[in-house]
Amino acid sequence: MIKQILTYPNPILRKKSQDVINFDNELHTLLNNMNETMDYAGGVGLAAVQIGTLLNVLVINIPVENPDNSEEEIQLKENLIEAINPKITHKDGEIVFTEGCLSIPNIHEDVTRAMNITVEYYNRNGKLCTTEANEFLAVAWQHEMEHLSGHVFIDNLSFMKRKKFEKDWKKKLKESKRNRDL
Ligand code: CO
Repeated sequence: MIKQILTYPNPILRKKSQDVINFDNELHTLLNNMNETMDYAGGVGLAAVQIGTLLNVLVINIPVENPDNSEEEIQLKENLIEAINPKITHKDGEIVFTEGCLSIPNIHEDVTRAMNITVEYYNRNGKLCTTEANEFLAVAWQHEMEHLSGHVFIDNLSFMKRKKFEKDWKKKLKESKRNRDL
């Protein structure tokens, strides 16, 4: 089921998510809903909190070049990552990447994160997995895990950039409200 994605500054996005204890049908339904919602919204990743469920669950699907049309990117089922209770066990290096977020539509800002990470997580069946990620994939993991701790990517901006964002965002919200009223 496609769910509504909560947008900034919804206070739920500030809450800390809890570990999953039961790897049951309820978890599988949550994961299926997250995958459908991410697909529908055209996102690269989604954290459960973004659809209002405060559990340590995230999905990531890094787009790849369409072999039939090099100007297009597609997301393949086999590249889908479903991670439950993820923990970063190692990180090194630094990467600056221009990030966006489904909860803060149409805003893109540079964020500095670790270039290489090792993550431990459980899959949907409760099997412990370890994976290494770098560059864009490492950025995606860190961005989604930040959601689980009640943060959003703009929390990483400098004071001045953050101030500018808040001003622009307020204006945007006002405009969208006005449009809806017509
Ligand atoms: Co996000």
